[in-house]
Amino acid sequence: MHSQLLLILVAILSALPCTIAASASAWRNRSIYQVMTDRFSRSDGSSTSACQTSERDYCGGTWRGIINKLDYISGMGFTAIWISPIGQQINGRTGEGEAYHGYWPTNLYALNERFGTEQDLRDLVAAVHSRGMYIMLDVVVNHFANQGDIIVYSDFVPLSDSRYFHPKCDIDWGNQTSIELCWMGNGYVHLVDVDTENDFVVSTLETYMAALITNYEFDGLRLDASRNIRKPFWTKLCLAANVYCQGEVWAGDPELVCPYQEYMDGLHNYPMKEVATTALTSSTGNMADLINMASKMNTRCKDVTLFGTFMENHDNPRIGSFTTDPARLQNVAALNILADGIPVLYYGQEQALTGSNDPANREALWLTDYRTTGNLVPTITSLNRLRNHAASTSPTFLTTSAVYTLLSSSVIRVRKENLVFVLTNTGSGASAAMTMDGFAPSLDLVEVLTCTHARADEKGRLPLVLRGEPMVLYPESLLSGSGICAL
Ligand SMILES: *[C@@H]1O[C@H](CO)[C@@H](O)[C@H](O)[C@H]1NC(C)=O
Ligand SMILES: *[C@@H]1O[C@H](CO)[C@@H](O)[C@H](O)[C@H]1NC(C)=O
Repeated sequence: MHSQLLLILVAILSALPCTIAASASAWRNRSIYQVMTDRFSRSDGSSTSACQTSERDYCGGTWRGIINKLDYISGMGFTAIWISPIGQQINGRTGEGEAYHGYWPTNLYALNERFGTEQDLRDLVAAVHSRGMYIMLDVVVNHFANQGDIIVYSDFVPLSDSRYFHPKCDIDWGNQTSIELCWMGNGYVHLVDVDTENDFVVSTLETYMAALITNYEFDGLRLDASRNIRKPFWTKLCLAANVYCQGEVWAGDPELVCPYQEYMDGLHNYPMKEVATTALTSSTGNMADLINMASKMNTRCKDVTLFGTFMENHDNPRIGSFTTDPARLQNVAALNILADGIPVLYYGQEQALTGSNDPANREALWLTDYRTTGNLVPTITSLNRLRNHAASTSPTFLTTSAVYTLLSSSVIRVRKENLVFVLTNTGSGASAAMTMDGFAPSLDLVEVLTCTHARADEKGRLPLVLRGEPMVLYPESLLSGSGICAL
C-alpha cells in the first residue's frame, strides 16, 4: 500500500467517533442481569402496583424504571443488562393477552411506547454506560406479529408486503426446514415468518441492525428464535451489528446447539441449564449428569466460555418452582455464576421467585421491594464479586475450562484455575464430613460465601464438613485488596 494512501486511511479512521463496539472477548468478563422490561421497575417507583401474571397484560415497567434501579443491579456485581425487545408491538388485547414481552413486533423502526420515549431509551443506554456496564438488546427478526387470521402485511415496517414473507404453514418441530420456513403462533396471534432466504430482506435487516446499533449504542444482541432462521443468516446480521451476539436455540442437545456457534459468538447454554435443573434441585438428581454435560459441551462446541450460563429465563419455569430449599437455590446460583461462560441471571432469581411456566414466571419485581438483605441477593453478590475479581486479576481465568469431579453421588467439585467450588443437592440441614485434596501444601483458603478461613495440610488435603450449601474456596493471598471478605 502506498504510504500516502495509508496516511489518508489513518486520518479517516481517527476521525471516526470513538465508540468501541463491544466484541465477544469484551463480553467474556461480563455478568448479565436479564430484565423483562415490563416487569422489572416502574417509572413511578411503585412497590405495590398489582400485576396478575396470568392476565398476560402490561404491568407498567419502563426504561426509566430500569434507570432508577441500576444501583440494585450493579450492587449485586452485575456488569451488563439484557432488556426486552424495544420495537413497536401489536396493539391491544389478544386471546393471548398483550404484547408486554416484546416478542410481537409490527414496526422495527418505531419504539414500544409502553416502555417510554426515545429519550428514555437513550438515557438508559447512557446511564448503563456511565457505570462502565454493557447493555444487550433482545432482537426479534424471525417474524412480525398479526392479530387474527387476516394478515395485514402493510402494517409491517420495513417489510410491508407479503412477498417478504414465507407462505403460511405450521411448524413441524421435528423438521429443521419446517422450523425455518413455517410460522409460529398460537391461533390468536400469527407470527408471520420473514423470508430470510430473500436477499432484499436480508439486506434490509442488515441495514436496520447496523442503524439500530449506531443510533442507540447497544453493546450486544440476544437473538430471539435463532433456530427458526437458517444459520448463515446470523453471520450476516451479526457482522452488520458488529457487536457480540448470543443466540437462543432452545434445545438440550449439544449436537443441535453447538453448530450454531460457527455462525454467531455464543448461545444460551440450554444443555447445561436443563441438566442442572434436575441435578441440583432434588437429592435424587444425578450430579454425574452435570459433569457429562460440561464435558460434552466442551468437546462439541467451539468455545463454551462465550456461551451464556443461565438457570432461569422468561420461557422456562423458575428454579424456585422446583425447589424452595435455600441451600439448593444457592448451589444453582453458584453454578450459574461460576461455571464456564458468561453468567446470565434472570431478574427475580435473586429474590427466589417461584413462578413456573410462562406467564407465571414473569412476576413484577417491584412487589418484592428489591430487598437486598435476604433470599439470594447476598450469595449472588459474593459470587459475582469473586468472578469479577478472579477475571480481573488472572488473564486466563475465564478461558480456563472448569474441571469437574464427582466426589460422591450427591457432591461434585469444580476447579477453575485457583477457584474450587463444591456443589451438592442434599439440601438444607445435611452434613457430611469429607476430605478434599489437590490443594497446594499448607495453602490458606477462604470460603467466600461465609468468609470462613481454612488451611490445607502439608499434603494439600482439606478436611471439611459440607452442609447443603455450596462451598466456594479461593486462595486467601489472591484475595488481598479485593474487598471480598474484608481482605
Ligand atoms: C473486562 O476486561 C476489560 C479489559 O479487557 C476491562 O477494561 C474491564 O474493566 C473488565 N470488566 C469487568 C467487569 O471486569
Ligand atoms: C420438512 O418441511 C418442509 C417445509 O415445510 C417440507 O417441504 C418437507 O417436505 C418436510 N420434510 C419432511 C421429511 O417432512
